[in-house]
Amino acid sequence: MAANALAIQQFAELDEAEIEARIHAAKVQLGERVLILGHHYQREEVFRHADISGDSLKLSRMAAQSNAEYIVFCGVHFMAEVADILSRPEQVAILPDLAAGCSMADMANLAKVERAWRELNEVLGDADQVITPVTYINSAADLKAFCGRHGGIVCTSSNAQQVLNWSFAQREKILFFPDQHLGRNTGHAMGIPLEEMVTWDFNQPMGGLSVEQIKQARMILWKGFCSVHQMFKPQHIDAFRAQYPDGKVISHPECSFAVCQKSDYVGSTEFIIKTVAASAPGTRWLVGTELNLVNRLHEHNKHEGKHAHFMSPTICMCSTMFRIDPQHLLWVLENLLEGKVVNQIKVPEDEARQARITLERMLEVSP
Ligand code: 13P
Ligand code: SF4
Repeated sequence: MAANALAIQQFAELDEAEIEARIHAAKVQLGERVLILGHHYQREEVFRHADISGDSLKLSRMAAQSNAEYIVFCGVHFMAEVADILSRPEQVAILPDLAAGCSMADMANLAKVERAWRELNEVLGDADQVITPVTYINSAADLKAFCGRHGGIVCTSSNAQQVLNWSFAQREKILFFPDQHLGRNTGHAMGIPLEEMVTWDFNQPMGGLSVEQIKQARMILWKGFCSVHQMFKPQHIDAFRAQYPDGKVISHPECSFAVCQKSDYVGSTEFIIKTVAASAPGTRWLVGTELNLVNRLHEHNKHEGKHAHFMSPTICMCSTMFRIDPQHLLWVLENLLEGKVVNQIKVPEDEARQARITLERMLEVSP
């Protein structure tokens, strides 16, 4: 068994109350030297220890502004990479469990994106003159660096419209990866007809598209998706509306086009939380995003008679976010107390420099 796994096993025997107390004590001792960032999808036992919680955009900003020596990211791998890229060189970004990845981010990799770029070059001439590559923040640092080398940019679910506006101001077409749904939902909200958005099947030569389809497309959407958000279906919304005709539906833009079209509101995790909090007492919500967030939303708003229902009848959590447990958080913090850094996320400097260009561009155009 690897040394880290052995070390964490010792924590598995501790009871919850002891873990909780020791995390608290370690945080007090570390003081301002450590900043714990928590994404909204984290389980409650971890989430309650976050100094700041938020969506990907807010947490990126917080990482960039932080003065802490250590940024412990309770989220997934790409988020800790962004924290490393945007923080100062002497700051250390830590991901409590290195296996906390993002299955959607893994649907695009540099080899496949470079192949797509070469194939698009063949059809369109110099792709760098015609296409702005846009990567969703849910992607590896080398894809952000790719966008940096090709005049592109990063987006999150909070700023996708502003980023697409910026991108179309640079060049006539966009290659958007890895999430087809965020690309399609945002493009449609900006008035781009569905026929002008084509889906690039990364397992097929030329994305499975004809020369004509590529030439007439304004947006080329990578065929990636989130395994959690794909569980939500239009029929779940129909069933809710039949039972609660006055109810409201709110979804994350990683949901399918059909689900977003049937929703009253579409937006990032932070937007979902703020919208439900600002709604009238007694409002009943159907929420199309991850279960931990929806459960917390319900708890925080039930005193006003509001209800937040999870959109799918089957339980679907983000299993990779779930890997960050109190045991790993405690292990990280107690190592820091002993002067040891475990599970540091360090993006190679050259890659980080190119990726930083695209993240800074994104922060400039963000609302
Ligand atoms: P947000 O930026 O809206 O928090 O989304 C991140 C994410 O991974 C959603 O699945
Ligand atoms: Fe990735 Fe989906 Fe999990 Fe978000 S919910 S981190 S997109 S797998």
